[in-house]
Amino acid sequence: MTQIHAPMQQGKLQNYNSGRGAQAYKADYQNKLHRKLSDRRERALLLRYFAEIGHVGTMLDLPCGHGRLADLLQAQCDHLIEADWSFTMVSLNQRDHGAREDIGPAARRYMRCSALQIPLPDRSVDSVVSFRLSHHLESQELRELHLRELFRVARRSVIVTWFSATSLKNRLRQVRVALGNKKPKNVLRNDRVRAIAAEAGYDERFAKPLFLIGSGHMLGLFLRRGKS
Ligand SMILES: C[S@@+](CC[C@H](N)C(=O)[O-])C[C@H]1O[C@@H](n2cnc3c(N)ncnc32)[C@H](O)[C@@H]1O
Repeated sequence: MTQIHAPMQQGKLQNYNSGRGAQAYKADYQNKLHRKLSDRRERALLLRYFAEIGHVGTMLDLPCGHGRLADLLQAQCDHLIEADWSFTMVSLNQRDHGAREDIGPAARRYMRCSALQIPLPDRSVDSVVSFRLSHHLESQELRELHLRELFRVARRSVIVTWFSATSLKNRLRQVRVALGNKKPKNVLRNDRVRAIAAEAGYDERFAKPLFLIGSGHMLGLFLRRGKS
């Protein structure tokens, strides 16, 4: 296994890969207030972004985790691919959400893969959604590679989250890092994300913070320039 396949801190990745860790992540969203609030805000922003994009043919949700957003995403597209590095997450998701043949043939498929080496050709899906992975990737190089992979496989639009270097939460963390009692966060500068998008032929349409205080996560919508 190379860094491309398992770049997340080993302990965290093993946790997501274990039945207990995957179930615990799912339970957090049912039980913890801050998770419920961020889930609500993420859904509101996603709906706003999809109002801009319109209904799409094929969508890739990577990493899909246990399928937290699967039903919302399915309502925006004809074919949804749910993908994750963790076998356990993919099977939990599949068990809970199924193939949705009731909606249409091949409405939903499941795939195990790395978001850093997506086994799909360039521009092979209309839209890619990648939530809550970037801030787990331990080097700047891998965080940038992740973005490039999303822009490569998407034909029209990419919705992605990252942890902003300029967020208040990161500024406060930097003070604690300087004091020697915390590790730095895995961040990206917003202008660097825009520059990588631009190199791949995308314009930033929205980049909204999840919350101004208490979170450094950004949700960006990027649209491919011109006709594709
Ligand atoms: C915090 S969860 C987010 C899941 C989902 N996007 C959500 O917002 O609920 C992070 C997920 O990333 C997956 N993951 C970790 N490294 C990955 C990689 N290189 N490629 C794809 N998925 C990865 C983990 O298995 C886990 O399911």
